Amino acid sequence: MDERTLVLVKPDGVQRGLVGEVIARIERKGLRLVSLELKAVDRGLAEQHYAEHEGKGFYEELLSFITSAPVAAMVVEGPRAVAAFRQIAGGTDPVEKAVPGSIRGDLALETGSNIVHGSDSPESAEREIKLWFG
Ligand code: CMP
Repeated sequence: MDERTLVLVKPDGVQRGLVGEVIARIERKGLRLVSLELKAVDRGLAEQHYAEHEGKGFYEELLSFITSAPVAAMVVEGPRAVAAFRQIAGGTDPVEKAVPGSIRGDLALETGSNIVHGSDSPESAEREIKLWFG
């Protein structure tokens, strides 16, 4: 049974011209792109998207980063799409956690600007897809 996940190429990834690279890796894995939109993110959308991080030390930094420039938002589909995208993205910390061969392991250095976001569970995916794509 296919599953859907929300993927964001965050402002650092868009500005570095890595949208195509991220899409290529998603497609090579065998996942399918079902929606894609370049979006300017306002504070309200950012707060809802990152609601679970409210109160953490990096929360304000997170909001100001995600609202700083457009993001490429996409819905990605396939068998175990949530876990499959998290595997190709690599761990949140691009140096300590993401392995070489993953998007973050190959292309990023800092946790705050780690190129991509992927939903962390099928329940989060459902919430996030509604939030970003209505
Ligand atoms: P993301 O998958 O977009 O979800 C939450 C984000 O918070 C995460 O990717 C990181 O970019 C960011 N993040 C997590 N921990 C830290 C941290 N310690 N400092 C700065 N940013 C962080």
